[in-house]
Amino acid sequence: MNSEPLYEGKAKSVYRSEQPGELIVRFRDDITAFDGEKKDVLSGKGVFNAAVSAFFFEHLESHGIATHFVRMVDERTMIVRELAMIPLEVIVRNRAAGSIVRRYPFAEGQVFDPPVIVMDFKDDARHDPMINDDIIMALDLLNREEIDAIRKTTLEINRLLSAYFRERGITLVDFKIEFGKVGGAILLGDEISMDSMRLWDRETGESLDKDVYRFDRGDVLSAYGRVVQRIIPGYSGGRG
Ligand code: CDP
Repeated sequence: MNSEPLYEGKAKSVYRSEQPGELIVRFRDDITAFDGEKKDVLSGKGVFNAAVSAFFFEHLESHGIATHFVRMVDERTMIVRELAMIPLEVIVRNRAAGSIVRRYPFAEGQVFDPPVIVMDFKDDARHDPMINDDIIMALDLLNREEIDAIRKTTLEINRLLSAYFRERGITLVDFKIEFGKVGGAILLGDEISMDSMRLWDRETGESLDKDVYRFDRGDVLSAYGRVVQRIIPGYSGGRG
């Protein structure tokens, strides 16, 4: 990975691989919030997020969900299948928190049953506006069948992740995922980490995710580390 990254996100860098059809994703220690207005470097954060992402990609694969994950190469670097990313943030909400409470008259923590799926159009200059099925089709991003397939897969991912967290004393409040295409298939891409989920301790209600950073609620790394310990059996990775 001496070469220039193909793409630099806010917390991950993507590099070409020598293997055609594969990419190298490196989880950096950068953490940002509020459209990049707040930013810091937290040594070891990338390792925690890489570990949780890899763990959940494998967990989902073992339950029939197709993902881009191939394998880890070191504790913050993974090989993934190259996808043509669909510029949508697919957000699942099991409880009301964050932007949905600011924008609509929901009470913080209110349960959504069935869960609410919201999609945002990924466009930094436009601040990722919320999008609907008709606009998705008018923009030629996806057809009806693809939208329906993504919704179905997303709800299944939510069922699997929610159950896994619940058994470990954590409520999966909401999360954001992204999909991409390869050949005719739609695969889960990007990451599943404490940067992209809201997690509340079931007993104490304490946040164990990026909200700790967003709202200065305490030691972010320690919160992320506690999630890793509770989620990954026998985790023994370190801060590297
Ligand atoms: O509260 P905030 O403005 O961050 O956004 P939200 O719409 O309430 O976010 C819902 C969930 O998606 C949270 O778990 C966020 O961490 C996640 N999210 C994300 O990972 N990346 C984004 N660009 C937006 C939301």
